[in-house]
Amino acid sequence: MQRAEGLKGSIAIPGDKSISHRAVMFGALAEGETVIDNFLAGADCLSTIACFRQMGVEIEQNGTHVRVKGKGMDALKEPSGILDVGNSGTTTRLMLGILAGRPFHSCIIGDESIAKRPMTRVTNPLREMGASIDGREEGNYTPISIRGGKLKGLKYTSPVASAQVKSAILLAGLQANQELTSVTEPHKSRDHTERMLRAFGAEVREEGLTAEIKGGQTLKAAKVDVPGDISSAAFFLAAGAIVPNSRITLENVGINPTRTGIIDVLNKMGADLTIEEKGSNTHEPVADLTISASSLKGTVISGDLIPRLIDEIPIIALLATQAEGETIIKDASELKVKETNRIDTVVQELGKLGAEIIPTEDGMIIRGKQKLSAEKASVSSHGDHRIGMMLAVAAMITDGEVSLEGHEAIDVSYPSFFEHVRALTGKTVD
Ligand code: S3P
Repeated sequence: MQRAEGLKGSIAIPGDKSISHRAVMFGALAEGETVIDNFLAGADCLSTIACFRQMGVEIEQNGTHVRVKGKGMDALKEPSGILDVGNSGTTTRLMLGILAGRPFHSCIIGDESIAKRPMTRVTNPLREMGASIDGREEGNYTPISIRGGKLKGLKYTSPVASAQVKSAILLAGLQANQELTSVTEPHKSRDHTERMLRAFGAEVREEGLTAEIKGGQTLKAAKVDVPGDISSAAFFLAAGAIVPNSRITLENVGINPTRTGIIDVLNKMGADLTIEEKGSNTHEPVADLTISASSLKGTVISGDLIPRLIDEIPIIALLATQAEGETIIKDASELKVKETNRIDTVVQELGKLGAEIIPTEDGMIIRGKQKLSAEKASVSSHGDHRIGMMLAVAAMITDGEVSLEGHEAIDVSYPSFFEHVRALTGKTVD
């Protein structure tokens, strides 16, 4: 990969990963045919489809068009093999919430990265609700086996702001007959589950930091038009902001306020960004985003903002290297339990391009503006899609030749990433 001269043009951002997973899962639990358009056909969401097929759900997938032939949650069958979630934390945690109420045995396994990701944050509350769960280190790590059954409601205060935890508990709560289940978080996490449950006909109450559901409701099939993933758009927003002479438009991007922390940060840093709202797709607002290169300044990112941009922190770290002054990212210790420890992988890999980033216990400190250069650097995604994409954007502003090991990880959330790089830079990536 080499320096880019300036990005120009427009691209349609592929479907949102969080929403694509949920559309398949809720379709599998609902009665009737759920039709999904602009589905993200990335490796993670394909793992979700494969797992639900193993439980007897008929799912037709043709690229970004998916039909899920739901027969209600009681129609899910005990899988005869092991459910393989690949690299997907969302599949693992949300599916555990569903399986907690199903009267059969199943076993979940994933890749090396999944095997390191903490699961007691969901297995403990699901056990309290009545599910029988075991796994490595007392149910904290895969392989995990679960025998679901009759559940009772739970009033749960979560120590972490995590939509995966909240969703798993709400999905179990949906199956706790006539009982109330609520989850209260320290900060509000993404609310796609709450919005989509409503689109599938369920009632979910939200008040402040609490979401509550009554058990025993049935879901009705819906039509889901998946908005583009703002977490994927973020890589090109950053590229557009830092590669001189750029001006690009990213179409059809989901701008759910629980996900737009990256827009707030770009605005605080002084980016030249315009948002053209386009209405909403299946309870989710969408917009076209246009960004041009401009000078940036450092900022502080903490507290409530963190869950609204948790997946964007690697690319924000790169942005910060190109901003004047200091950027402080704190309250983000969740970074350590993502696909990789993203504090370590960001510091280590950007370091190979000459960037100096100071790691802290719960984030990083970055002083800009820094010049990135390398004589034939070889950087690695460490198997983490978002680290891979961040490094590909870093290469666009690095003097010298950069090669990226483990670029195939990018398929997890953005299979057409390099095609889009080519479309906007006019350069083939090799
Ligand atoms: C997701 C929630 C976030 C996010 C992940 C997708 C979801 O994880 O990092 O990529 O779809 O609910 P946490 O809930 O663990 O913060």
